[in-house]
Amino acid sequence: MAAIRLRNAKVPFEIHHDEMDPDESFEEQEDLGESRPEGDEEDEQDSDFSDDSDGVVDPSVLEDMEKLEETFKGIKDRFRLINRIGEGTFSTVYKAEDLLYEHYDNDWDIEEKENKWTSPPLKKQRRIGMDALADMDEYAQQRRRPKYVAIKKIYVTSSPSRILNELDLLNDLRGFDSVCPLITAFRHTDQVVAVLPYFRHTDFREYFRKMTVDDMQIYFRSLFTALAAVHSKGIIHRDIKPTNFLYEPDKRRGVLVDFGLAEREDGPDMKPCLCGEGVTERRRRVTNSVAAQTGPIGGYPKNDSRPSRRANRAGTRGFRAPEVLFKCTDQSSKIDIWSAGVILLTILSRRFPFFNSADDVEAMIEIATIFGVKRMKQCALLHGTVFETNIPTIGDRGFLLEKIILWSTCRNDGGKGGSEIPLDAKEKLAVRFLERCFELDPNKRISAEEALEHEFLKKKEEVYGDDDEMHML
Ligand SMILES: Nc1ncnc2c1ncn2[C@@H]1O[C@H](COP(=O)(O)OP(=O)(O)O)[C@@H](O)[C@H]1O
Ligand SMILES: [Mg+2]
Repeated sequence: MAAIRLRNAKVPFEIHHDEMDPDESFEEQEDLGESRPEGDEEDEQDSDFSDDSDGVVDPSVLEDMEKLEETFKGIKDRFRLINRIGEGTFSTVYKAEDLLYEHYDNDWDIEEKENKWTSPPLKKQRRIGMDALADMDEYAQQRRRPKYVAIKKIYVTSSPSRILNELDLLNDLRGFDSVCPLITAFRHTDQVVAVLPYFRHTDFREYFRKMTVDDMQIYFRSLFTALAAVHSKGIIHRDIKPTNFLYEPDKRRGVLVDFGLAEREDGPDMKPCLCGEGVTERRRRVTNSVAAQTGPIGGYPKNDSRPSRRANRAGTRGFRAPEVLFKCTDQSSKIDIWSAGVILLTILSRRFPFFNSADDVEAMIEIATIFGVKRMKQCALLHGTVFETNIPTIGDRGFLLEKIILWSTCRNDGGKGGSEIPLDAKEKLAVRFLERCFELDPNKRISAEEALEHEFLKKKEEVYGDDDEMHML
């Protein structure tokens, strides 16, 4: 077993039995391709285990955990594997108890930091005698609580470069409380496991239908704080969706996980795209293009000799931004903002998954149905390509997001024979914010930094209530 990055030990502590040979390289593995297979979102949702309890463990999971312990000989001395908590396209994640927590500096432990540094509410500070002792006892109890980690076993079919990329980016993102930090990682031949702090979270499907606009503000403030952090480092997450944002409604906080598809904005695969040019140059290129001169041709060539357009399409169906679908070669962090917008539309419309396309062409049709053919054509031209459709149900002008929300929540007629129940002021504000996330032109789309200043997300003033406790308005 070789440690890729050692934990920050308080005392010298050696558990690794074999050192990494500097000449030893990963066995070359076939890359599965960058996108999650179509239909993956549902599969992942179905096999997602947010169970916090040690409860009954499925025999097949027990077997898998034993196999993992066999592969990583020393792991049993450091972690007690408890149960499987998640299974995605690229990994299986287990909950485990960190048996050697006390031996390390655990600067990643946000909860411990909070327990240590947050002063008790003013009322409590004034309490004396038995009450104060009870508080101290509670604090001591918290300190003795077992500490949990999430052990992410990355499938051996993932390419070594992708695994290294995920660990490298996680390492770069250390120190942001809204991003799940990497504690350490191990490798044994082609098997890599990443050790992350365990974050209790609730399955999105359990709470999204009950969310009020105030709840949405808290959720999205947390998500956009994470996005602002990631984007400030020039990193695009590429797979923003509910299962990758571990949110706990009680705590009103979430953390961003899964950097398996993330990439740097200035990565080697980025090439200039027409969307990066000024309006005049774009117009000139579009006017001189073959498509503009020949006009739309019915059907498509059987033997297309044109070079195919290649661009990163990584992500999950239903969450891909239009520029990803149009294969823009200069994608930016704005693709994450679009995906966050899809989550907001899901919550406002109370429908999950909102977009349910089988492939990219269907995804374009779904987007065109909402935004209309006219804007979709403009969007395609922006990236030097064309959008044509003869589907009669796709209108030229599309629909207002407000209308879509009313329809999908059955509020357009208030039930049989009733009248429309319009959106209230807060809901309208949420829709205004959603429109900013759904700008088809990524250059005009709101950034995470700007989003935090938008009226919908901006923190309202903190005021002191009657009973000395701080309230957030
Ligand atoms: N740090 C963590 N704490 C708790 N659960 C986690 C953690 N990391 C991942 N999970 C669970 O495992 C699932 C899959 O993890 P993820 O990193 O998204 O892997 P994949 O690349 O396979 O999608 C997540 O959706 C979540 O339910
Ligand atoms: Mg995931």
